[in-house]
Amino acid sequence: MCGIVGYVGPQAAVDVVVGGLRRLEYRGYDSAGVAIVSDGRIELAKKAGKIANLDKLLADHPLPTDGLGIGHTRWATHGAPNDSNAHPHLSRGGRVALVHNGIVENFVELRDELAADGITMVSETDTEVVAQLLGQVVEAGTELADAMRAVCRRLTGAFTLVAVDSHNPELVVAARRNSPLVVGVGDGENFLASDVAAFIEHTREAIELGQNQVVELRSDSVRVTTFDGAPAEVRPYHVDWDLSAAEKDGFDWFMRKEIYEQPKAVADTLLGRHDSKGALTLDEIRISEAELRQIDKIVVIACGTSFYAGLVAKYAIEHWTRIPCEVELASEFRYRDPIVGPSTLVVTISQSGETADTLMAIRHAREQRAKVLAICNTNGSTIPRESDAVIYTHAGPEVGVASTKGFLTQLVACYLLGLYLAQVRGTKFGDEIKATMAELETIPAAIQSLLDNIQPVLDLAAEFADQPSVLFLGRHVGYPVALEGALKLKELAYIHAEGFAAGELKHGPIALIEDQLPVFVVVPPKGRDMLHEKVVSNIQEIRARGARTVVLAEEDDHEVDAVADVLIRLPKVSTLLQPLVATVPLQVFACELASRKGHDVDQPRNLAKSVTVE
Ligand code: M6R
Repeated sequence: MCGIVGYVGPQAAVDVVVGGLRRLEYRGYDSAGVAIVSDGRIELAKKAGKIANLDKLLADHPLPTDGLGIGHTRWATHGAPNDSNAHPHLSRGGRVALVHNGIVENFVELRDELAADGITMVSETDTEVVAQLLGQVVEAGTELADAMRAVCRRLTGAFTLVAVDSHNPELVVAARRNSPLVVGVGDGENFLASDVAAFIEHTREAIELGQNQVVELRSDSVRVTTFDGAPAEVRPYHVDWDLSAAEKDGFDWFMRKEIYEQPKAVADTLLGRHDSKGALTLDEIRISEAELRQIDKIVVIACGTSFYAGLVAKYAIEHWTRIPCEVELASEFRYRDPIVGPSTLVVTISQSGETADTLMAIRHAREQRAKVLAICNTNGSTIPRESDAVIYTHAGPEVGVASTKGFLTQLVACYLLGLYLAQVRGTKFGDEIKATMAELETIPAAIQSLLDNIQPVLDLAAEFADQPSVLFLGRHVGYPVALEGALKLKELAYIHAEGFAAGELKHGPIALIEDQLPVFVVVPPKGRDMLHEKVVSNIQEIRARGARTVVLAEEDDHEVDAVADVLIRLPKVSTLLQPLVATVPLQVFACELASRKGHDVDQPRNLAKSVTVE
């Protein structure tokens, strides 16, 4: 949500900033703008809509190619997505320009105070209030960085702010509380952005900023302080992926590319997780084995697709460790007075590491003295930083708003955690853990073979492109897969899609079944229990009522042949690991169907990749 870029150095700032904004498009936005400090003035260009509109404006009214610059893609919260609400915002008289990601909660009170001083707003945004306040302090003679610290001390809410002063052509100043911001350290040039993708083509050296910090960026220096001006500790790190990872590489959509990257992403996430004797070693866990033995409850907290990964985790963790495991939507967690304490392990799952609901939930959990372990894909992001421990997934950058490789690697991390807890607590024998690890290591090849034979799924998407509604059914770990299949279709194809637990069908949803309604059913592997049999009879029930059944079943499962209108074959894997393969055709189906409908697959309407407001 909202993308921020700042640049100071010898290159044409306008090109670096707009180029960076383009790389942040995936975050979701509805207007874009840039401000350049040149020749003692601030020159501004901003436009509602996509960056193409800003490009057109810049082609008609070019900005100076010297000086320093800041830019912004806005995902509207306060005020409509129009030109005047777009960032950057100027202070009265135009001396200061400011961009912002987050929500300033006390903006009404501050706006009234400014109004009493005769300053009226030209936009409906909370951001302009901060630009005006900052302008007021700077006009009174305070240097920009001191002014930023003073203003930040007065703000409540979440904010990343980046500002420039036309009287100071060498300095970009930023502040961070909650919303993401990283520094890119170049050679004679420096960068600021919401995400390293914005500057990855210029440098792979980054600095992670902490909470309540102000950074002063000059071409040859980076200075970081607290809001009170004391020097602050920061963490420099090297970004371990390069520009090619942030490009489409011949695919029509990032999402499709990311689906095809899943064999590698899963393999990378499994890499280096055990010692020479086969014992699991999760280096990043940072919670002692003694503490892990004391845990009497696990609570998994996440949003959206990550929440569905958590639902799968519950089945695996409870089965392998016998520790009770709850799964909760982060947005609900802290508002219901949850029972967590020192013997609770809270596991948060977040691809971006910046989701505000999840972040607020872990802060609440830590206040209750629970231990927090983050499963996260983004190095340097806020959630792992504020957690006691982290398991990084190694999916590489996920640009498509719809999570794909992010989800599969989260599943892998959840399995690793479950197995590790089982090892520490002795609830599974070493050879059982090794056998599951060995099976996990076969998964990349299984996904690859699915992708190599995906044409029937593409054909199905063509056939179903005009369907107004699609249902998904699953049972056990197939249930979260059904939910994920439905979410993918909703967010990408904008059609009504629901996922149900197959056993719940007769308690209501079966009333939705009508002639030719497509229903995808995830069939569990044929095992020793009755799960498979139950799902087959669920398929019979819906087929008898006219549904067109699309059945996902393992390759030698012929009991489903008679009940499937369409059969999608899955590689043979054990029940708990089946989501790693069963999800893939559903991702491909949603991507292809949305693409055929002419939708923007990578940036679906109204959605943001990183949801940084509650
Ligand atoms: O970055 P996070 O994993 O915390 O994001 C959580 C959700 O916002 C995210 O999974 C969302 O549901 C995706 N658009 C799903 O494809």
